[in-house]
Amino acid sequence: MIDYQAFINHISQTRLSSWVEPLESQLKQLWPSLNDGNLPRLLAEIDQLPDLKAENIALNDVIDIRGSAGNQINILNQCLENLKPWRKGPFNFFDTYVDSEWRCDLKWQRVCPYISNLTGRHVLDVGSGNGYYGWRMKAAGAATVAGIDPSWLSVVQHLAVNHYIKDPTHCVLPFTLESLTPNLEIFDTVFSMGVLYHRRSPLEHLFELRGALRPGGELVLETIVIEGDAGESLVPIGRYARMNNVWFLPTAATLAQWLEKMGFENIRIADQCVTTDAEQRATTWKPGQSLNDYLDPTDQSKTIEGHPAPIRAILIAEKPINQRLKRYHL
Ligand SMILES: C[S@@+](CC[C@H](N)C(=O)[O-])C[C@H]1O[C@@H](n2cnc3c(N)ncnc32)[C@H](O)[C@@H]1O
Repeated sequence: MIDYQAFINHISQTRLSSWVEPLESQLKQLWPSLNDGNLPRLLAEIDQLPDLKAENIALNDVIDIRGSAGNQINILNQCLENLKPWRKGPFNFFDTYVDSEWRCDLKWQRVCPYISNLTGRHVLDVGSGNGYYGWRMKAAGAATVAGIDPSWLSVVQHLAVNHYIKDPTHCVLPFTLESLTPNLEIFDTVFSMGVLYHRRSPLEHLFELRGALRPGGELVLETIVIEGDAGESLVPIGRYARMNNVWFLPTAATLAQWLEKMGFENIRIADQCVTTDAEQRATTWKPGQSLNDYLDPTDQSKTIEGHPAPIRAILIAEKPINQRLKRYHL
């Protein structure tokens, strides 16, 4: 069991207080039904983490926790090793630099210029991973960051980071978006980055994201797209870049149409960018295969299966203040 009481106490003092009851009830139901053999091992690592004082915390490109680990450094390093693979980061724990597979700072640099100022905003980060982006959101002034991610490794990695940062306003909850209380309508900004292509029903995903937003709130959507015109999308048969859980890869223009269909307005295609090994690569903290093994070695514009190589698009959209769109019955 993970103790989310500090986060619940925080939101109970805010406009998110209507979420307290459903959240408490969801967590209460979750713990007895858990059947993940790996979780006790992961949580044992958090119990082993040494109690070190973070003397200086900088939430910049590197989530940097500084201080002296003294003779506890080996215990700290062993816990961090046991929480591998670190896909998202980078982090620095005292003197240990966790060079994650993804340079998430590069995506944040692409997203940042286009989003509304996060100062004072309550944010939902869907598919938050270990909360790397949530720290960048906090540094940008967010009042609350609720990450949700069904990966226990991500949830526990966040616990390891917050063991030292000790911020009750940022959590990673072990939920999918589909299992979150529907139509909360409380968040000022909702991020969904790297999740839509994993959903069999992408329109349903957009609908659920819209339900979490307050009227007038902002959606930040990032996903893999293909080149092409409005109306086109790829449903890769078999694997895509070795992933067996990729469903819809629209063009950016198609995605904008989907957003309109699902009742968003002021839709903007902010950025499109080919993923390179400057951003995704194997490291000692995530050994094994990475982007270069997923692409055709003779033609980097194709995946190993012959599909178009990943391009990642960022779209920004708003939930209308007057949100009833009768023509779509949403
Ligand atoms: C490709 S990673 C993206 C992580 C991060 N948002 C980023 O942009 O780097 C996708 C994440 O979404 C999570 N995820 C998958 N399905 C989800 C769902 N239905 N609801 C919420 N998160 C989901 C996965 O566990 C994984 O951590």
